[in-house]
Amino acid sequence: MGKEITKYPPGPSYKMPGKLIRQFLNDPIKTLSTISQKYGDICYFKLGPKHHVYLLNNPDYIEKVLIYDHRNFKKGPRLQAAKALLGEGLITSEGDYHNRQRRIIQPIFHPKRIMEYGKLMTDHAIRFRGKWKNGETIDIAQEMMELTLGIICKSVLNYDVESEAELVGKWLTTTRNYSKRLQNPIGHVLDKIPILPAPKKAHKAGQDLDSLVYGLISDRRKHPHQQGSDNQGYDDLLSKLMEAQDPNLTGPASPNSGAGGASQASSNGKMSDKQVRDEVMTIFIAGHETTSNALTWTFYLLSQNPDVEKKLHDEIDSVLGTDGGKEGDDVGKVPTTEDIPKLQYTEKVLRESMRLYPPVWTMGRYVETDYQVGEYTIPTGSSIIMCQYVMHHNPRYYDEPERFNPDRWTAEFKTQLPRFSYFPFGGGIRGCIGEPFAWMEGTLIIATIAQKWTMRLAPNQRIKLDPAITLRPKNGMKMKMIQRK
Ligand code: HEM
Repeated sequence: MGKEITKYPPGPSYKMPGKLIRQFLNDPIKTLSTISQKYGDICYFKLGPKHHVYLLNNPDYIEKVLIYDHRNFKKGPRLQAAKALLGEGLITSEGDYHNRQRRIIQPIFHPKRIMEYGKLMTDHAIRFRGKWKNGETIDIAQEMMELTLGIICKSVLNYDVESEAELVGKWLTTTRNYSKRLQNPIGHVLDKIPILPAPKKAHKAGQDLDSLVYGLISDRRKHPHQQGSDNQGYDDLLSKLMEAQDPNLTGPASPNSGAGGASQASSNGKMSDKQVRDEVMTIFIAGHETTSNALTWTFYLLSQNPDVEKKLHDEIDSVLGTDGGKEGDDVGKVPTTEDIPKLQYTEKVLRESMRLYPPVWTMGRYVETDYQVGEYTIPTGSSIIMCQYVMHHNPRYYDEPERFNPDRWTAEFKTQLPRFSYFPFGGGIRGCIGEPFAWMEGTLIIATIAQKWTMRLAPNQRIKLDPAITLRPKNGMKMKMIQRK
């Protein structure tokens, strides 16, 4: 801890220890919303004797933390847990090593370079929309998870999960549960007790996924060209990661600065197998559940707002027509990346949906050295919370914040909005590298599915938020499917 703090920002203080922690565990979103409404731009509270927490509700403060002063913060000790699964990938690495990896990988996610994945996204969406039956009830949350998992597997590994979907899905669920458990404050203690079955199962799942990825890397090293092709390389993200090179060859090639461990990169600035594996796992985990939740909430909001839904259908029909052409299906032509600039209302629908239900609903940082915010000094070792959910519902920035109103997103509104009053993808050097990929995927999937289907919430479906690492609907999202055409 740095210098002695004499002045704390306002915030709740409870005589009963544990009351606030219980509220957090029960309903973190409600707890943070209530605190922010009551105490304003910067709030302070304690979660246990040594855990000092500062909640930032002012977009300018958030901008300073994420953009200008990012070196003053770490993602923090809880990352150790995620490292068990993700190694030193972009989400978990820190400091100069992270900057180097980011420099190598960033060009791969340039909007122009990811365009080529548009077709595989709509191919997958068409398969899904083709299997549903008129009048049946499906869990759209489950369907979107499988759809986005299929897309990320194909984009990263050129791997068709269709035949192995169940297997890969199981691996990912178990592995995710494992990492969630590790993030539990007592998770690392539970993990030490060998008779508890979950870690064992999860370790095995992790190993299975590892052998799949390492097997594919080794195949690529042996056979860099696709079989039966005219010397054509693979165009998936795995190959791009294997080929990518540090443009200035100066950064630390391993997280332990030149220690030469398993993750040491080769001297030509390319990544080692271990580094490629870590980034692949990271993109896998980061790149499907988020988008899946964004889509699930979007279809939920459309089912509750028939006027918005009608406007969306009108745009899709006018941009894509109603004649399927040679693609068949008779619902209009398949959307392509070239149509995206014309699907402006569709984009607004997605934007507004991620305002109301941000898939990453909160972000945290640990303070490395005492940090000044307004009139307060935040001491070293404290936690900072920046909560997308709370900010996106703030009436200071959004009229009728609870209303689903895609029309609010005019060019003028966007210009006058403070930058970090809307930040579903975070920002700065640690902002989402997959953002262009996610916008393209989201827009194309909404258009492809809404071309053919309208959804209505199943009568007994209760909507409850499950704010885990991502914001999911607690009981899934059962929808009755109604064919439009
Ligand atoms: C709607 C979809 C998505 C949302 C809302 C989202 C949100 C975010 C947010 C908020 C962060 C920053 C976390 C922090 O700073 O603590 C992040 C980081 C990241 N995201 Fe996404 N994401 C989405 C889709 C994707 C996709 C499709 C990919 C990959 C294909 C991806 C890959 C990553 C990676 C690798 C990072 C870590 C970046 C770094 O620290 O350098 N995300 N994402």
